[in-house]
Amino acid sequence: MDAEGKYVIRHDGLVTKHDRETLNGHKGMVLWFTGLSGSGKSTIASHVEKALFDLGMRTYLLDGDTLRCGLNRDLGFSARDRKENLRRIGEVAKLFVDAGIITLCAFISPYRSDRENVRRLFPDGTFLEIYVKCDLEECMRRDPKGLYKKARQGLIKGFTGLDAPYEEPLHPDLIIDTTTTPLNTAVSSVLTLLGVSPPTV
Ligand code: ADX
Repeated sequence: MDAEGKYVIRHDGLVTKHDRETLNGHKGMVLWFTGLSGSGKSTIASHVEKALFDLGMRTYLLDGDTLRCGLNRDLGFSARDRKENLRRIGEVAKLFVDAGIITLCAFISPYRSDRENVRRLFPDGTFLEIYVKCDLEECMRRDPKGLYKKARQGLIKGFTGLDAPYEEPLHPDLIIDTTTTPLNTAVSSVLTLLGVSPPTV
């Protein structure tokens, strides 16, 4: 049995989510970037965050490598650990959304069921799934962290796309194919999805 409902009782503060969203001038929501390592999730998410921030919005970026250095440092890359990784991130993102913040999440999140579990934490329309699509060959060519090379040498086991699966989203809110799409077009497409006018350069 979960602790809640037994001896744990939620405490609501005096400031509501609605109050915070009114102060911020926009709703809290999740932009969930999923895709292979090296597909460009973090790059696109960080540029979208900068564009939104420059427009005066409240934003925060949660990223796989960063979270795995702290909160999730006890987790590895088995299917079970990835599930727990995403469960915790979902709960963290929920707090950020409750704070009225546009929360950008960049995680491989290779299993559909784990992504759906996170989506279920949020009201309709406040969780947008963005599939950052890129050919495995292109990700391996980029190999920004040198991890594909290590995985192919057998130094890393269970690497997504090689000897661990990646399940493509079936109905994402947006697909960005970074094999062919330049960064500024990718960023603009996310801003358009949000109904935000990209700043004119
Ligand atoms: S997830 O699968 O649980 O969503 P997450 O996004 O947090 O993964 O972390 C992915 C990052 O961990 C990759 O960008 C890469 O730098 C690193 N990494 C280390 N080992 C692996 C592995 N076996 N598979 C995928 N990524 C790995």
